[in-house]
Amino acid sequence: MTKLRVMTVIGTRPEAIKLAPVVQELSRHAEIESIVVATAQHREMLDQVLALFHIQPARDLNLMRADQSLADLTAAIFTNLDPLLVEYQPDWLLAQGDTTTVMAAAVCAYYHQVKFGHVEAGLRTGDKRQPFPEEVNRRMAGVIADLHFAPTDWARDNLLHEGIAPSLIKVTGNTIIDALNQIKSMPMPAEIETLLKEKRILNGERDLVLVTAHRRESFGQPIREICAALKELAEKYANQVEFIYPVHLNPNIQEPVQEILGDVANISLLAPLEYLPLVHLEMHAKLILTDSGGIQEEATGLGKPCLVLRERTERPEGVQAGVLKLVGTSREMIVSTASNLLDDPAEYARMAHAANPYGDGTAAQKIVSEILAAR
Ligand code: UD1
Ligand code: UDP
Repeated sequence: MTKLRVMTVIGTRPEAIKLAPVVQELSRHAEIESIVVATAQHREMLDQVLALFHIQPARDLNLMRADQSLADLTAAIFTNLDPLLVEYQPDWLLAQGDTTTVMAAAVCAYYHQVKFGHVEAGLRTGDKRQPFPEEVNRRMAGVIADLHFAPTDWARDNLLHEGIAPSLIKVTGNTIIDALNQIKSMPMPAEIETLLKEKRILNGERDLVLVTAHRRESFGQPIREICAALKELAEKYANQVEFIYPVHLNPNIQEPVQEILGDVANISLLAPLEYLPLVHLEMHAKLILTDSGGIQEEATGLGKPCLVLRERTERPEGVQAGVLKLVGTSREMIVSTASNLLDDPAEYARMAHAANPYGDGTAAQKIVSEILAAR
């Protein structure tokens, strides 16, 4: 029997993290030929993850350019990915989430009448400008998908409301839990142990607040407000808390963050971290402040109180579980909510409990068996 040819397209860091378990699972099946294509919409940040999970793309389009516009990136993906569909003639194309890579890969699959499987389908805020451009990217992917791998029942219901046939939606859990389970049992990297010792976090003298932010709708004034809030919090808790912030490489984030927070004593601005050290920081954090999608899910799974620096979230499960709180980007709101949690142990305890809305870490197995079943 000819093998089922499955092409997995990966563009950015979080796609690589969430597709690594799927790529691993595909390779366990002799009846599948697995082809990984990196658009490399991200470069260094993607390479960190590909190396960790030992993923070697068959083709790497190397498309990242400094401060690239959405239109340029989209055009480059169309031009460079399209010929690979002709060359490899895959039966299925898989992509994860809501990046430009996902939207463009879905359209390419449609043009070639290749079946498209959408991993992490059905997330919605209902506001096409938040997150931007992800809400529209995932809706476009959803229009095209032949199978929708929804992480939760809530995501499935969103798709049902949009008229997707129930038989095309498979609730699988989120592959982030598969990835997190693999990584969190690995020993703490030496550089993180040194950092946590040096900052007097490991011995319990001081608390760690982990921060990340990168959303496009926060460029300009909102990211400056976030930074102003961090500065105020850092000054308020100067002896008690160390803020560790691995800063996304997008220049629209780098510039304000370095300018406003570059010389605050108890804020450590780091380069983007590899996934293993980042997970260890999450596990040692007292509190997480983020606008990241993946980190919201990880915080929920790890039971780490997490303030979401956004006006809307497409991940209500963690909010319902009480681990996430949506605080937006206003300085006042961030400072008062974070202060409450740092000052009031009862308030903190109400948020600090793990929840499991994203499945049991077997999402990748479920996705691959559904693809085989749909053969
Ligand atoms: C992208 C996704 C976003 C996702 C995020 C994950 C889109 C439109 N955005 O946002 O949905 O949440 O990735 O991190 O698909 N850069 C580097 N090195 C890197 C990566 C980025 O220098 O390894 C810089 C480059 O100047 C690049 C810029 O960041 O042009 C923006 O990268 P891009 O992929 O367009 O958007 P992100 O903000 O990273
Ligand atoms: N992450 C990482 N190193 C960092 C920051 C984040 O490995 O310095 C991981 C994080 O644990 C999560 C994923 O990257 O799994 C989230 O990526 P990002 O926040 O860039 O994108 P989003 O999830 O918002 O699309």
